[in-house]
This record gives sequence, C-alpha cells and structure tokens, in this order.
Amino acid sequence: MTTPSKPSTRPIGPFQVSPIGLGCMNLSHAYGQPPSFDDAERLLLRALDLGVTLFDTAALYGFGANETLVGQVLAKHRSRFVLASKCGMQGVQFPDGMKRVIDGRPETLRASCEASLQRLQTEVIDLFYLHRWDKQVPIEDSVGALADLVRAGKVRAIGLSEVSATTLRKAHAVHPISAVQTEYSLWTRNPEIAVLQACRDIGAAFVAFSPVARGFLTGKVRDVAAFDAKDIRRAMPRFAPDNYRTNLALLDGVAEVADEAGCTLAQLALAWLLHCAPHIVPIPGTTRVDHLEEDLGALRVRLDQEQMARLDEIVNRHTVRGPRYNAGNQAEIDTEEFDA
Ligand SMILES: NC(=O)c1ccc[n+]([C@@H]2O[C@H](COP(=O)([O-])OP(=O)(O)OC[C@H]3O[C@@H](n4cnc5c(N)ncnc54)[C@H](OP(=O)(O)O)[C@@H]3O)[C@@H](O)[C@H]2O)c1
Repeated sequence: MTTPSKPSTRPIGPFQVSPIGLGCMNLSHAYGQPPSFDDAERLLLRALDLGVTLFDTAALYGFGANETLVGQVLAKHRSRFVLASKCGMQGVQFPDGMKRVIDGRPETLRASCEASLQRLQTEVIDLFYLHRWDKQVPIEDSVGALADLVRAGKVRAIGLSEVSATTLRKAHAVHPISAVQTEYSLWTRNPEIAVLQACRDIGAAFVAFSPVARGFLTGKVRDVAAFDAKDIRRAMPRFAPDNYRTNLALLDGVAEVADEAGCTLAQLALAWLLHCAPHIVPIPGTTRVDHLEEDLGALRVRLDQEQMARLDEIVNRHTVRGPRYNAGNQAEIDTEEFDA
C-alpha cells in the first residue's frame, strides 16, 4: 500500500505548511462571477479554521483586488499562515482598458512588491513568486531583483511559476528557489518530464496549481456551454465542447477508483497528487465552503499502488483530448512540453 508520506505539514523553503493550501484566485476572477466580500471572507476564515496555512494570491488576480481581499480578511491573522504572492505579470492601464502584461524588469518587480505589501497589509511576503519568466529579461536579472527584496526584508523566500528545469537551475544559481508553482494534475502531466525532479534535486517544493483541473476532475463540471462569458476556461482547448465531451468519458473509470477509495472525485484528484511525492503541495481554489471542506477531506484518503497505476492509465496525456492552453498562452510559458 502506498501511503502519502503525510506528516501534518510539508516543507516549502524555510516554512512548514499544511499539505493542501488554498488558491485564492477565483475569489476575484477566473471562473465566472466572484463571490461577494462576505462570502469570500467566510471562505478564507473557514480555511484558516480548518488548518490551512498556505494562502496563494498574486498581483494579477483581479488586477490587485485579490491581494486587497486577502489583506482585508487575513492581515489580523498574519502570524497563522504562510502568505504567497506573485509579481512579474499584472494589470496595466491602457487607453482601451486594463490588460494583463508580463514584465520581469527589476524596477517593475520592486514596484510591484511595494504595491503588493500595501494591498496585503503586511510588512513581508513569505513566498514571492515570479509569475512568468519574461523572456525579454534574463532570468538572472529578475531573480536578482527578488534576491534584493529578500535582503531588504520585504520577502522571505523566492519562487518561480511555469518555468523549465533549465530556467529553474539558472535561477537557483543566483538565489535559492524555495518553490516552483506549475499546473499539475492527472490531466496535466508536463512537470513529470523534468521539473518535478529538478525541484527534488535542489530541495524546492512543487506547488501544484489547478490541481482539480479547473473543476474537470471533480466530475461536477458537465456543461461547458453554461460557462460565464468571462470564464477563462472558454479559451482553453480542453474545455471546447467536442474535446470536453471526450474528456468527460474518462471520469467513469476515475469514479470507480473513487468508490473503492471511499472518496469523491475531487478528493481523489488531490490525494493522487499527495501520493505522487512528498514535495508536492496542491493549492485548489474554490468559492464555496462545502467544496473547501470536501477538498481538505483528501488528506484522509489512502491509495494503493494498483489504484495509482490505474488512475495513471485512465487519465494521461494520450487519453486527454486538447492542449491545456491556446497558442497565445502557451507562448508565454517556459515549461517542458510533451511532443504530442
Ligand atoms: N501560477 C499560475 O500561473 C497559476 C495559474 C492558475 C491558478 N493558480 C493558482 O492555483 C489556484 C487553484 O487553481 P485553479 O483555481 O485554477 O484550479 P482548481 O483548483 O483545479 O479548480 C478550481 C475550480 O474547481 C472548482 N472546485 C474546487 N473544488 C471543488 C469541489 N470540491 N467540487 C466541485 N468543484 C470544485 C471550483 O469551483 P467552486 O468555486 O464552485 O468550488 C473552481 O471552478 C488558484 O486559485 C491560484 O492561486 C496559479
């Protein structure tokens, strides 16, 4: 029987965090209408009460609104959790509105950190990620700027998001990298090519974002036509109706494993990640307290090697239909990708 080496915490750089953290993005944008302030507050405080000690936000989310929300709700509980935020991709005002811009220049990262500290109502960000590597700027320069922020006491540890193993090693030579945050779940397996191992080699945590596949792996997202007009999944090929119909059929086999393990599909998806390796920390996002409670129930799930192997066989890069990103978003990232 494979059990997740499940101490009650997992390490990220100098910190010990709950094995499942909370992604806060969708409290401000991404998948349809965000919740009211009161509902978002209830969710964040419930997560804290349930023992979540890693909260993940970014300057980008809601173009600052997500950090503001996290600051307003959690600043008074600051000593109880590890606060992670991100820079290097943010909203910039143009004549025709706010746009998402990748900018990894040192002066931009410094200014972004100051703005984040203010919005988060804190004196220091525990884990500060470069959200995307800006390919116009050497990674050494961007990470050098983050290292200066550590020395200035504004940031405690540095992370990277969606980078290749090569970029990670270059960055790590400038300053220790405590975490890499990249999409990882049964249906997005690219980190298995090199980054998971590179993190192990350098002693970094691997923070798995979109760990329930943006809802797909919960089995509760059936009708993609019902997505809100601004839902970012509308631009993702795997959620295109034809592809999604094929992908949904994979869940029948997954549901059988969930039944055997006595858990829900969402819990199975998270338990699969926790069992894959002890340096993995998934950060599911939700707007609902009942979903939060369900997701944290994954900590109690035990999977054996045969079940892990069966899941691997049912949902993998050969069986999932459609790339995860469209061409525009794909061009922005730096991860190793499978050939086909
Ligand atoms: N570094 C990056 O570039 C990057 C990119 C994307 C995300 N992230 C981070 O990763 C976090 C999580 O990723 P994500 O939000 O994209 O994907 P996710 O956690 O895989 O999925 C979130 C979606 O799943 C639904 N969901 C969650 N638990 C559920 C449950 N038990 N039952 C039914 N539905 C459930 C949520 O809907 P409900 O609200 O209805 O529960 C939401 O629509 C984000 O909040 C963000 O912090 C980072």
